[in-house]
Amino acid sequence: MRQCGACGASPRGGRPYRHHQHHGAGAAGGISQGRQLAAAQALGAEGIWCGTIWLGTRESELAPYEKAALFQARAEDAVQRKSMTGKPVRLLQSRWTEAWDAPDAPPVLPPPLQGLLYRDARARIDRGQRQDFYSYPAGQVVGTMTAERSVRDVMRELIDDYADALERLAARRDAAMAGVAV
Ligand SMILES: Cc1cc2nc3c(=O)[nH]c(=O)nc-3n(C[C@H](O)[C@H](O)[C@H](O)COP(=O)(O)O)c2cc1C
Repeated sequence: MRQCGACGASPRGGRPYRHHQHHGAGAAGGISQGRQLAAAQALGAEGIWCGTIWLGTRESELAPYEKAALFQARAEDAVQRKSMTGKPVRLLQSRWTEAWDAPDAPPVLPPPLQGLLYRDARARIDRGQRQDFYSYPAGQVVGTMTAERSVRDVMRELIDDYADALERLAARRDAAMAGVAV
């Protein structure tokens, strides 16, 4: 699996995981390209699950100021912190996460208390459209998102890239088989 950023993009370690013994395996985390679907299939996955890439689409429910924050973010800005809910969540770092990272900051409250604390702050952040304090759950693929696109365009690009990857692999397979046959 491709990794973007300093550490693995996948909350599940980039490996296909099994939902259930009788169901197929799916791959999730850090997926934004069709070639990753081909790679996941090669590893035994039957499908992929994408989260972050939909946040910046025209159909996403996020407000324009939230999308702007996502488009400006780099892969390294998607950090794992407890300061949103009390549990580790990969999210956009901001002045909110930095304040909780400060050496003199109080300890993060256990869930659900930190989430309740954050909810009030979030309402004020939204009211003021404060991009500098804005955090949102997002994976490291956020670093590849630069402008609003339609779901249709994102899907088309995924499918095209998947088809290209399969063609490259088929050519490699044919070359390998020809080498074996000689
Ligand atoms: C809006 C949003 C909310 C999420 N909420 C959670 C969550 O509550 N718990 C969790 O473990 N992961 C959460 N995730 C992480 C997803 O599990 C992760 O995005 C998914 O594996 C797909 O990876 P990707 O975003 O790199 O495509 C969230 C992701 C997004 C985009």
